[in-house]
Amino acid sequence: MDVARKPTQFGDMRGWIDALRKAGELAEVNAEIDWNVELGTALRLAQGPGTGPAVLFNNIKDYNGPNARCSKIFGGGLGSYRRVAMMLGCDIDTHPRELVKLGRTILSDRLPPVTVKTGPVKENILLGDDINLFDFPVPQWNRVDGGRYIISYAGCVTRHPETGVMNVGIYRGMVSAKNMIPMLIWRAQHIGNHFTAYQQAGVKEMPIAFVIGWEPVMGFCAGQPVPAGICEYDVMGAMRGAPVELVQCETVDLQVPASAEIVIEGMISTDPKDFQMEGPFAEFTGYVAGDCSPKPTARVTAITHRNDPILRGSIEGSLPGSFSENAICSSIMRSATAWNVLDRAGVPGVVDVFGPPVHAGINLNVSIKQIYRNQAKQAANALWGSSAAHVRYKHVTVVDDDIDIHDYAAVDWAIAYRVNAGEGDIFIMPNTFGAGLDPSTRRRDRNAALFGTGKWNRLLIDATMNLDYDPDPDLGGARFPPTVWPAKDDEAAVRARWDELGFKKPD
Ligand SMILES: Cc1cc2nc3c(=O)[nH]c(=O)nc-3n(C[C@H](O)[C@H](O)[C@H](O)COP(=O)(O)O)c2cc1C
Repeated sequence: MDVARKPTQFGDMRGWIDALRKAGELAEVNAEIDWNVELGTALRLAQGPGTGPAVLFNNIKDYNGPNARCSKIFGGGLGSYRRVAMMLGCDIDTHPRELVKLGRTILSDRLPPVTVKTGPVKENILLGDDINLFDFPVPQWNRVDGGRYIISYAGCVTRHPETGVMNVGIYRGMVSAKNMIPMLIWRAQHIGNHFTAYQQAGVKEMPIAFVIGWEPVMGFCAGQPVPAGICEYDVMGAMRGAPVELVQCETVDLQVPASAEIVIEGMISTDPKDFQMEGPFAEFTGYVAGDCSPKPTARVTAITHRNDPILRGSIEGSLPGSFSENAICSSIMRSATAWNVLDRAGVPGVVDVFGPPVHAGINLNVSIKQIYRNQAKQAANALWGSSAAHVRYKHVTVVDDDIDIHDYAAVDWAIAYRVNAGEGDIFIMPNTFGAGLDPSTRRRDRNAALFGTGKWNRLLIDATMNLDYDPDPDLGGARFPPTVWPAKDDEAAVRARWDELGFKKPD
Protein backbone atom coordinates (compact mmCIF):
# COMPACT_ATOMS: atom_id res chain seq x y z
CA MET A 1 0.00 0.00 0.00
CA ASP A 2 1.21 3.50 -0.80
CA VAL A 3 2.34 5.69 2.10
CA ALA A 4 -0.33 8.31 2.86
CA ARG A 5 0.83 11.89 2.41
CA LYS A 6 -0.76 15.29 2.16
CA PRO A 7 1.47 17.69 0.20
CA THR A 8 2.19 20.57 2.57
CA GLN A 9 3.08 24.21 2.00
CA PHE A 10 4.82 25.92 4.89
CA GLY A 11 4.94 29.28 3.05
CA ASP A 12 8.56 30.02 3.87
CA MET A 13 11.25 29.00 6.35
CA ARG A 14 9.44 30.85 9.15
CA GLY A 15 6.30 28.77 8.52
CA TRP A 16 8.45 25.62 8.71
CA ILE A 17 10.07 26.79 11.97
CA ASP A 18 6.59 27.47 13.43
CA ALA A 19 5.42 23.98 12.43
CA LEU A 20 8.50 22.46 14.08
CA ARG A 21 7.93 24.50 17.24
CA LYS A 22 4.31 23.26 17.44
CA ALA A 23 5.44 19.65 16.92
CA GLY A 24 8.05 19.90 19.70
CA GLU A 25 10.83 19.45 17.15
CA LEU A 26 12.60 22.80 17.74
CA ALA A 27 15.19 23.88 20.31
CA GLU A 28 15.71 27.65 20.65
CA VAL A 29 19.08 28.78 21.95
CA ASN A 30 18.73 32.19 23.57
CA ALA A 31 22.04 32.20 25.45
CA GLU A 32 24.87 33.96 23.61
CA ILE A 33 26.90 31.60 21.43
CA ASP A 34 30.05 32.25 19.40
CA TRP A 35 29.84 31.89 15.59
CA ASN A 36 33.51 30.87 15.78
CA VAL A 37 33.49 27.04 16.29
CA GLU A 38 31.15 27.04 19.32
CA LEU A 39 27.90 27.22 17.31
CA GLY A 40 28.95 24.45 14.91
CA THR A 41 30.11 22.28 17.80
CA ALA A 42 26.78 22.76 19.57
CA LEU A 43 24.80 21.89 16.44
CA ARG A 44 26.88 18.76 15.81
CA LEU A 45 26.44 17.56 19.39
CA ALA A 46 22.73 18.48 19.46
CA GLN A 47 21.77 16.54 16.36
CA GLY A 48 22.78 13.17 17.84
CA PRO A 49 22.16 9.96 15.88
CA GLY A 50 19.10 11.38 14.13
CA THR A 51 17.45 12.00 17.49
CA GLY A 52 18.13 15.70 18.11
CA PRO A 53 15.94 18.73 17.45
CA ALA A 54 16.16 21.41 14.79
CA VAL A 55 17.89 24.43 16.33
CA LEU A 56 17.26 28.17 16.11
CA PHE A 57 20.14 30.26 17.47
CA ASN A 58 18.75 33.65 18.52
CA ASN A 59 21.78 35.25 20.16
CA ILE A 60 25.07 35.11 18.25
CA LYS A 61 28.21 36.81 19.50
CA ASP A 62 29.16 39.95 17.52
CA TYR A 63 25.76 39.87 15.76
CA ASN A 64 23.41 40.58 18.66
CA GLY A 65 23.67 44.38 18.71
CA PRO A 66 20.81 46.71 17.68
CA ASN A 67 22.35 47.35 14.25
CA ALA A 68 23.04 43.76 13.28
CA ARG A 69 21.90 43.03 9.74
CA CYS A 70 21.28 39.37 10.58
CA SER A 71 21.23 37.88 14.06
CA LYS A 72 19.79 34.37 13.79
CA ILE A 73 20.84 30.99 12.42
CA PHE A 74 18.61 27.99 11.82
CA GLY A 75 19.96 24.46 11.31
CA GLY A 76 19.05 20.80 11.55
CA GLY A 77 15.59 21.20 9.99
CA LEU A 78 15.77 17.86 8.17
CA GLY A 79 18.04 16.13 10.67
CA SER A 80 15.59 13.36 11.64
CA TYR A 81 13.25 10.95 9.87
CA ARG A 82 10.39 12.51 11.86
CA ARG A 83 11.03 15.91 10.31
CA VAL A 84 11.55 14.44 6.84
CA ALA A 85 8.12 12.79 7.28
CA MET A 86 6.64 16.17 8.34
CA MET A 87 8.17 17.89 5.32
CA LEU A 88 6.68 15.21 3.05
CA GLY A 89 3.25 15.63 4.68
CA CYS A 90 3.32 12.11 6.20
CA ASP A 91 2.57 10.98 9.71
CA ILE A 92 5.52 12.07 11.89
CA ASP A 93 6.19 8.46 12.98
CA THR A 94 6.40 7.03 9.45
CA HIS A 95 9.09 4.31 9.42
CA PRO A 96 12.18 5.06 7.26
CA ARG A 97 11.32 1.88 5.26
CA GLU A 98 8.10 3.60 4.15
CA LEU A 99 9.97 6.86 3.47
CA VAL A 100 12.31 4.92 1.18
CA LYS A 101 9.31 3.51 -0.71
CA LEU A 102 7.90 7.01 -1.04
CA GLY A 103 11.31 8.28 -2.11
CA ARG A 104 11.17 6.01 -5.17
CA THR A 105 8.64 8.32 -6.82
CA ILE A 106 8.81 11.56 -4.83
CA LEU A 107 11.03 13.32 -7.39
CA SER A 108 9.04 12.15 -10.43
CA ASP A 109 6.20 14.68 -10.56
CA ARG A 110 6.45 18.25 -11.89
CA LEU A 111 4.57 21.46 -11.18
CA PRO A 112 6.22 24.47 -12.83
CA PRO A 113 6.83 27.62 -10.77
CA VAL A 114 5.07 30.94 -11.28
CA THR A 115 6.76 34.33 -11.46
CA VAL A 116 5.55 37.11 -9.18
CA LYS A 117 6.57 40.79 -9.30
CA THR A 118 8.05 41.03 -5.83
CA GLY A 119 8.15 39.42 -2.41
CA PRO A 120 9.63 39.66 1.09
CA VAL A 121 13.12 38.74 -0.15
CA LYS A 122 13.23 42.21 -1.78
CA GLU A 123 12.66 44.07 1.53
CA ASN A 124 16.38 44.92 1.51
CA ILE A 125 18.51 45.23 -1.61
CA LEU A 126 22.27 45.68 -1.21
CA LEU A 127 24.48 46.65 -4.13
CA GLY A 128 28.06 47.89 -4.67
CA ASP A 129 29.90 48.97 -1.51
CA ASP A 130 26.96 47.97 0.69
CA ILE A 131 27.73 44.32 0.01
CA ASN A 132 29.52 42.75 2.96
CA LEU A 133 29.21 39.04 3.65
CA PHE A 134 30.74 39.60 7.10
CA ASP A 135 27.52 41.42 8.06
CA PHE A 136 26.02 37.94 8.36
CA PRO A 137 26.90 35.64 11.30
CA VAL A 138 28.57 33.09 9.05
CA PRO A 139 29.89 30.29 11.26
CA GLN A 140 33.36 28.89 11.33
CA TRP A 141 31.51 25.57 11.63
CA ASN A 142 34.55 23.49 12.58
CA ARG A 143 38.02 24.42 13.76
CA VAL A 144 39.43 22.31 10.91
CA ASP A 145 37.56 24.19 8.14
CA GLY A 146 39.55 26.43 5.81
CA GLY A 147 37.28 29.38 6.60
CA ARG A 148 33.73 30.56 7.30
CA TYR A 149 31.21 28.70 5.11
CA ILE A 150 28.20 30.85 4.23
CA ILE A 151 27.04 28.33 1.63
CA SER A 152 26.40 25.19 3.65
CA TYR A 153 22.73 24.59 2.83
CA ALA A 154 21.85 27.12 0.14
CA GLY A 155 20.06 26.30 -3.08
CA CYS A 156 22.68 27.28 -5.68
CA VAL A 157 20.80 28.39 -8.79
CA THR A 158 22.47 28.40 -12.21
CA ARG A 159 21.11 28.32 -15.76
CA HIS A 160 22.36 26.06 -18.56
CA PRO A 161 23.69 28.42 -21.26
CA GLU A 162 22.13 26.43 -24.14
CA THR A 163 18.90 24.95 -22.80
CA GLY A 164 18.11 27.87 -20.46
CA VAL A 165 16.93 25.39 -17.80
CA MET A 166 17.76 26.37 -14.21
CA ASN A 167 19.35 23.93 -11.75
CA VAL A 168 19.16 24.22 -7.97
CA GLY A 169 21.80 22.19 -6.10
CA ILE A 170 23.53 22.23 -2.72
CA TYR A 171 27.28 22.72 -2.92
CA ARG A 172 29.71 24.20 -0.41
CA GLY A 173 31.00 27.82 -0.53
CA MET A 174 33.36 29.75 1.73
CA VAL A 175 33.77 33.48 2.37
CA SER A 176 37.20 34.60 1.12
CA ALA A 177 36.50 38.36 1.15
CA LYS A 178 33.53 40.61 1.86
CA ASN A 179 32.19 39.94 -1.64
CA MET A 180 33.87 36.68 -2.69
CA ILE A 181 32.72 33.04 -2.36
CA PRO A 182 35.02 30.30 -3.72
CA MET A 183 33.11 27.03 -4.20
CA LEU A 184 33.70 23.29 -4.56
CA ILE A 185 32.36 22.43 -8.04
CA TRP A 186 32.71 18.85 -9.33
CA ARG A 187 32.38 18.45 -13.09
CA ALA A 188 30.01 15.49 -12.62
CA GLN A 189 27.49 17.60 -10.68
CA HIS A 190 24.91 19.67 -12.53
CA ILE A 191 26.51 22.95 -11.50
CA GLY A 192 29.73 21.50 -12.95
CA ASN A 193 27.92 20.60 -16.20
CA HIS A 194 26.76 24.23 -16.41
CA PHE A 195 30.15 25.67 -15.53
CA THR A 196 31.86 23.50 -18.16
CA ALA A 197 29.28 24.53 -20.78
CA TYR A 198 29.98 28.24 -20.08
CA GLN A 199 33.72 27.57 -20.22
CA GLN A 200 33.50 25.63 -23.50
CA ALA A 201 31.30 28.32 -25.05
CA GLY A 202 33.99 30.87 -24.19
CA VAL A 203 31.66 32.83 -21.86
CA LYS A 204 33.71 34.71 -19.26
CA GLU A 205 31.35 34.47 -16.27
CA MET A 206 28.55 32.17 -15.09
CA PRO A 207 25.68 33.86 -13.22
CA ILE A 208 24.71 32.29 -9.89
CA ALA A 209 22.19 32.95 -7.11
CA PHE A 210 22.45 31.39 -3.65
CA VAL A 211 19.08 30.97 -1.98
CA ILE A 212 19.51 30.78 1.79
CA GLY A 213 16.44 29.73 3.77
CA TRP A 214 13.13 28.72 2.29
CA GLU A 215 10.65 25.87 2.70
CA PRO A 216 12.30 22.50 3.54
CA VAL A 217 11.55 21.00 0.11
CA MET A 218 14.27 23.25 -1.28
CA GLY A 219 17.11 21.65 0.71
CA PHE A 220 15.64 18.20 0.15
CA CYS A 221 15.32 18.54 -3.66
CA ALA A 222 18.50 20.55 -4.15
CA GLY A 223 20.49 17.99 -2.16
CA GLN A 224 19.27 15.00 -4.14
CA PRO A 225 19.99 13.93 -7.73
CA VAL A 226 17.04 15.31 -9.68
CA PRO A 227 17.89 14.29 -13.28
CA ALA A 228 19.89 16.72 -15.44
CA GLY A 229 17.73 19.04 -17.54
CA ILE A 230 14.89 19.03 -15.01
CA CYS A 231 14.50 22.15 -12.93
CA GLU A 232 14.29 21.46 -9.19
CA TYR A 233 11.67 24.24 -8.84
CA ASP A 234 9.27 22.03 -10.88
CA VAL A 235 9.92 19.10 -8.54
CA MET A 236 9.54 21.26 -5.41
CA GLY A 237 6.19 22.50 -6.70
CA ALA A 238 4.90 18.96 -7.17
CA MET A 239 6.22 17.85 -3.78
CA ARG A 240 4.51 20.70 -1.88
CA GLY A 241 1.38 20.60 -4.04
CA ALA A 242 1.55 24.24 -5.17
CA PRO A 243 3.82 26.13 -7.60
CA VAL A 244 6.88 27.82 -6.15
CA GLU A 245 6.52 31.61 -6.42
CA LEU A 246 9.68 33.09 -7.91
CA VAL A 247 11.01 36.63 -8.33
CA GLN A 248 13.61 37.86 -10.77
CA CYS A 249 17.10 38.55 -9.36
CA GLU A 250 18.45 42.11 -9.40
CA THR A 251 21.76 41.62 -11.22
CA VAL A 252 21.64 38.16 -12.84
CA ASP A 253 19.09 36.47 -15.12
CA LEU A 254 17.97 33.92 -12.54
CA GLN A 255 14.88 33.45 -10.41
CA VAL A 256 14.58 32.73 -6.72
CA PRO A 257 11.73 32.02 -4.23
CA ALA A 258 9.96 35.30 -3.37
CA SER A 259 9.83 34.50 0.35
CA ALA A 260 13.43 33.30 0.75
CA GLU A 261 15.32 34.70 3.73
CA ILE A 262 18.51 35.77 1.93
CA VAL A 263 19.62 35.67 -1.71
CA ILE A 264 23.21 36.28 -2.76
CA GLU A 265 23.67 37.01 -6.46
CA GLY A 266 27.00 36.75 -8.23
CA MET A 267 29.13 35.93 -11.24
CA ILE A 268 31.71 33.11 -11.34
CA SER A 269 34.66 33.67 -13.65
CA THR A 270 35.40 30.68 -15.89
CA ASP A 271 39.07 31.69 -16.05
CA PRO A 272 41.26 29.63 -13.66
CA LYS A 273 43.43 32.69 -12.99
CA ASP A 274 40.45 34.19 -11.10
CA PHE A 275 40.03 31.14 -8.86
CA GLN A 276 40.55 31.70 -5.11
CA MET A 277 41.67 29.36 -2.33
CA GLU A 278 38.94 27.21 -0.77
CA GLY A 279 38.90 24.29 1.68
CA PRO A 280 39.38 22.05 3.47
CA PHE A 281 35.96 21.35 4.99
CA ALA A 282 34.41 18.83 7.37
CA GLU A 283 32.88 16.68 4.66
CA PHE A 284 30.00 14.25 4.35
CA THR A 285 32.26 11.30 5.16
CA GLY A 286 32.80 12.60 8.68
CA TYR A 287 36.43 13.42 7.79
CA VAL A 288 38.13 16.63 6.79
CA ALA A 289 38.36 16.62 3.00
CA GLY A 290 38.69 18.64 -0.16
CA ASP A 291 42.13 20.21 0.05
CA CYS A 292 42.80 23.94 0.23
CA SER A 293 43.23 24.77 -3.45
CA PRO A 294 42.16 27.40 -6.00
CA LYS A 295 38.48 27.01 -6.89
CA PRO A 296 35.87 28.81 -9.04
CA THR A 297 34.80 31.91 -7.14
CA ALA A 298 31.54 33.86 -7.07
CA ARG A 299 31.99 37.65 -7.14
CA VAL A 300 28.92 38.92 -5.29
CA THR A 301 26.91 41.47 -7.31
CA ALA A 302 23.90 41.88 -4.99
CA ILE A 303 22.39 40.65 -1.74
CA THR A 304 18.65 40.80 -1.13
CA HIS A 305 17.09 39.79 2.17
CA ARG A 306 14.00 39.93 4.33
CA ASN A 307 13.80 42.15 7.38
CA ASP A 308 15.43 40.41 10.34
CA PRO A 309 16.66 37.57 8.11
CA ILE A 310 17.49 34.10 9.39
CA LEU A 311 20.65 32.49 8.02
CA ARG A 312 20.06 28.80 7.15
CA GLY A 313 23.06 26.56 7.68
CA SER A 314 23.88 22.90 8.16
CA ILE A 315 26.69 21.05 9.87
CA GLU A 316 28.00 18.57 7.30
CA GLY A 317 29.69 15.26 8.10
CA SER A 318 27.93 12.21 9.47
CA LEU A 319 29.67 9.94 11.97
CA PRO A 320 28.75 7.70 14.89
CA GLY A 321 26.84 9.77 17.44
CA SER A 322 25.94 12.60 15.07
CA PHE A 323 24.08 12.18 11.79
CA SER A 324 23.94 15.12 9.40
CA GLU A 325 20.83 16.40 7.64
CA ASN A 326 22.44 15.40 4.37
CA ALA A 327 22.93 11.85 5.64
CA ILE A 328 19.37 11.50 6.94
CA CYS A 329 17.89 12.67 3.62
CA SER A 330 20.45 10.79 1.54
CA SER A 331 19.86 7.52 3.40
CA ILE A 332 16.25 7.72 2.21
CA MET A 333 16.91 8.90 -1.32
CA ARG A 334 20.08 6.87 -2.07
CA SER A 335 18.22 3.75 -0.93
CA ALA A 336 15.20 4.67 -3.06
CA THR A 337 17.42 5.29 -6.09
CA ALA A 338 19.21 1.95 -5.59
CA TRP A 339 15.87 0.16 -5.40
CA ASN A 340 14.79 1.78 -8.68
CA VAL A 341 18.11 0.76 -10.29
CA LEU A 342 17.57 -2.87 -9.20
CA ASP A 343 14.01 -2.87 -10.54
CA ARG A 344 15.01 -1.35 -13.87
CA ALA A 345 17.77 -3.93 -14.25
CA GLY A 346 15.19 -6.68 -13.68
CA VAL A 347 16.61 -8.09 -10.44
CA PRO A 348 13.66 -10.11 -9.12
CA GLY A 349 12.37 -10.37 -5.57
CA VAL A 350 13.76 -7.17 -4.03
CA VAL A 351 11.93 -6.73 -0.72
CA ASP A 352 13.79 -3.87 0.95
CA VAL A 353 16.79 -1.56 0.40
CA PHE A 354 18.51 0.61 3.01
CA GLY A 355 21.74 2.55 3.45
CA PRO A 356 21.90 3.61 7.13
CA PRO A 357 22.36 7.34 7.84
CA VAL A 358 25.72 7.07 9.58
CA HIS A 359 27.23 6.76 6.08
CA ALA A 360 24.12 7.36 3.95
CA GLY A 361 24.45 4.55 1.47
CA ILE A 362 28.21 3.92 1.20
CA ASN A 363 27.27 0.53 2.63
CA LEU A 364 23.99 -0.64 1.14
CA ASN A 365 21.85 -3.47 2.49
CA VAL A 366 19.47 -5.26 0.16
CA SER A 367 16.94 -7.87 1.16
CA ILE A 368 15.69 -10.27 -1.52
CA LYS A 369 13.40 -13.24 -1.90
CA GLN A 370 15.81 -15.57 -3.75
CA ILE A 371 14.50 -17.72 -6.58
CA TYR A 372 17.78 -18.71 -8.18
CA ARG A 373 21.43 -18.95 -7.17
CA ASN A 374 23.80 -15.97 -7.27
CA GLN A 375 20.97 -13.44 -7.39
CA ALA A 376 23.03 -11.31 -4.98
CA LYS A 377 25.76 -10.96 -7.64
CA GLN A 378 23.17 -9.82 -10.15
CA ALA A 379 22.01 -7.18 -7.66
CA ALA A 380 25.55 -5.93 -6.95
CA ASN A 381 26.48 -5.80 -10.63
CA ALA A 382 23.32 -3.87 -11.46
CA LEU A 383 24.06 -1.33 -8.74
CA TRP A 384 27.73 -0.92 -9.62
CA GLY A 385 26.97 -0.53 -13.30
CA SER A 386 24.69 2.41 -12.69
CA SER A 387 25.85 6.02 -12.55
CA ALA A 388 24.02 6.31 -9.20
CA ALA A 389 26.91 4.27 -7.77
CA HIS A 390 29.49 6.98 -8.43
CA VAL A 391 29.78 8.10 -4.80
CA ARG A 392 27.67 5.40 -3.11
CA TYR A 393 27.14 1.62 -2.71
CA LYS A 394 30.84 0.79 -2.16
CA HIS A 395 29.90 -2.22 -0.03
CA VAL A 396 26.72 -4.11 -0.86
CA THR A 397 25.32 -6.69 1.55
CA VAL A 398 22.51 -8.91 0.30
CA VAL A 399 20.37 -10.87 2.75
CA ASP A 400 17.27 -13.06 2.50
CA ASP A 401 13.82 -11.64 3.06
CA ASP A 402 13.60 -12.97 6.64
CA ILE A 403 16.27 -10.44 7.67
CA ASP A 404 15.18 -6.93 8.70
CA ILE A 405 17.78 -4.67 7.13
CA HIS A 406 16.83 -1.81 9.46
CA ASP A 407 18.15 -3.95 12.32
CA TYR A 408 21.95 -3.98 12.60
CA ALA A 409 21.85 -7.15 14.73
CA ALA A 410 19.82 -9.04 12.11
CA VAL A 411 22.22 -8.10 9.29
CA ASP A 412 25.26 -8.92 11.42
CA TRP A 413 23.75 -12.32 12.34
CA ALA A 414 23.14 -13.11 8.66
CA ILE A 415 26.76 -12.17 7.87
CA ALA A 416 27.95 -14.38 10.72
CA TYR A 417 26.16 -17.56 9.64
CA ARG A 418 25.24 -17.27 5.96
CA VAL A 419 28.59 -16.07 4.63
CA ASN A 420 31.33 -18.49 3.65
CA ALA A 421 34.23 -16.59 2.12
CA GLY A 422 35.53 -19.78 0.48
CA GLU A 423 32.25 -20.35 -1.32
CA GLY A 424 32.13 -17.12 -3.32
CA ASP A 425 30.11 -15.12 -0.77
CA ILE A 426 32.75 -12.38 -0.69
CA PHE A 427 33.28 -10.78 -4.07
CA ILE A 428 35.55 -7.84 -4.88
CA MET A 429 35.07 -5.67 -7.94
CA PRO A 430 38.40 -3.79 -8.20
CA ASN A 431 39.28 -0.40 -9.68
CA THR A 432 35.88 1.16 -10.30
CA PHE A 433 34.88 4.80 -10.23
CA GLY A 434 34.28 6.12 -6.71
CA ALA A 435 34.14 9.01 -4.25
CA GLY A 436 37.07 11.41 -4.40
CA LEU A 437 36.53 12.30 -0.74
CA ASP A 438 36.86 8.81 0.78
CA PRO A 439 40.02 8.75 2.96
CA SER A 440 40.33 4.95 2.69
CA THR A 441 41.37 5.44 -0.92
CA ARG A 442 45.04 6.35 -1.43
CA ARG A 443 45.48 10.08 -1.83
CA ARG A 444 46.81 9.74 -5.37
CA ASP A 445 43.69 7.83 -6.43
CA ARG A 446 41.40 10.47 -4.95
CA ASN A 447 42.63 13.06 -7.42
CA ALA A 448 39.42 13.73 -9.33
CA ALA A 449 41.07 16.59 -11.24
CA LEU A 450 43.59 14.11 -12.71
CA PHE A 451 41.34 11.07 -13.20
CA GLY A 452 37.84 12.57 -13.43
CA THR A 453 36.75 10.47 -10.43
CA GLY A 454 38.06 8.76 -7.30
CA LYS A 455 38.83 5.03 -7.21
CA TRP A 456 36.92 2.35 -5.33
CA ASN A 457 37.42 -1.39 -4.93
CA ARG A 458 33.88 -2.55 -4.32
CA LEU A 459 32.72 -5.43 -2.16
CA LEU A 460 29.70 -7.71 -2.20
CA ILE A 461 28.87 -9.63 0.96
CA ASP A 462 26.41 -12.30 -0.11
CA ALA A 463 24.75 -13.12 3.21
CA THR A 464 21.91 -15.06 1.65
CA MET A 465 21.49 -18.80 2.11
CA ASN A 466 23.59 -20.33 -0.64
CA LEU A 467 21.29 -21.89 -3.24
CA ASP A 468 24.35 -23.57 -4.79
CA TYR A 469 24.36 -25.97 -1.80
CA ASP A 470 22.59 -29.29 -2.27
CA PRO A 471 19.10 -29.54 -0.78
CA ASP A 472 19.34 -31.63 2.41
CA PRO A 473 16.84 -34.53 2.46
CA ASP A 474 17.08 -34.61 6.28
CA LEU A 475 15.84 -31.00 6.28
CA GLY A 476 12.93 -31.64 3.94
CA GLY A 477 14.94 -30.31 0.99
CA ALA A 478 16.02 -27.05 2.68
CA ARG A 479 19.65 -25.87 2.44
CA PHE A 480 19.80 -24.45 5.97
CA PRO A 481 18.41 -25.86 9.21
CA PRO A 482 15.48 -24.09 10.85
CA THR A 483 16.31 -21.35 13.34
CA VAL A 484 15.47 -21.84 16.98
CA TRP A 485 12.86 -19.06 17.04
CA PRO A 486 9.68 -20.69 18.43
CA ALA A 487 6.99 -21.84 16.03
CA LYS A 488 4.15 -19.31 15.57
CA ASP A 489 1.61 -21.30 17.63
CA ASP A 490 4.08 -21.91 20.47
CA GLU A 491 4.96 -18.23 20.55
CA ALA A 492 1.31 -17.13 20.51
CA ALA A 493 0.44 -19.53 23.34
CA VAL A 494 3.18 -18.17 25.60
CA ARG A 495 2.42 -14.55 24.68
CA ALA A 496 -1.20 -15.17 25.71
CA ARG A 497 0.01 -16.17 29.20
CA TRP A 498 2.69 -13.44 29.43
CA ASP A 499 1.12 -11.40 32.26
CA GLU A 500 0.08 -14.51 34.13
CA LEU A 501 3.66 -15.76 33.98
CA GLY A 502 4.71 -12.50 35.59
CA PHE A 503 6.75 -11.04 32.69
CA LYS A 504 6.65 -7.40 31.67
CA LYS A 505 4.79 -6.58 28.44
CA PRO A 506 7.25 -6.80 25.50
CA ASP A 507 8.14 -3.35 24.13
C1 LIG B 1 24.34 19.81 3.26
C2 LIG B 1 24.79 19.31 1.90
C3 LIG B 1 26.05 19.65 1.43
C4 LIG B 1 26.49 19.23 0.18
N1 LIG B 1 27.71 19.64 -0.29
C5 LIG B 1 28.08 19.34 -1.56
C6 LIG B 1 29.27 19.90 -2.14
O1 LIG B 1 29.99 20.67 -1.51
N2 LIG B 1 29.61 19.56 -3.39
C7 LIG B 1 28.83 18.72 -4.14
O2 LIG B 1 29.16 18.45 -5.29
N3 LIG B 1 27.70 18.16 -3.61
C8 LIG B 1 27.30 18.47 -2.35
N4 LIG B 1 26.15 17.96 -1.84
C9 LIG B 1 25.42 16.94 -2.61
C10 LIG B 1 24.64 17.57 -3.73
O3 LIG B 1 23.78 18.56 -3.22
C11 LIG B 1 23.82 16.51 -4.45
O4 LIG B 1 24.73 15.65 -5.11
C12 LIG B 1 22.85 17.10 -5.45
O5 LIG B 1 22.30 16.05 -6.22
C13 LIG B 1 23.50 18.13 -6.36
O6 LIG B 1 22.55 18.70 -7.21
P1 LIG B 1 22.56 18.34 -8.76
O7 LIG B 1 22.07 16.91 -8.84
O8 LIG B 1 21.58 19.29 -9.35
O9 LIG B 1 23.95 18.51 -9.23
C14 LIG B 1 25.68 18.40 -0.60
C15 LIG B 1 24.41 18.05 -0.14
C16 LIG B 1 23.96 18.51 1.09
C17 LIG B 1 22.54 18.16 1.53
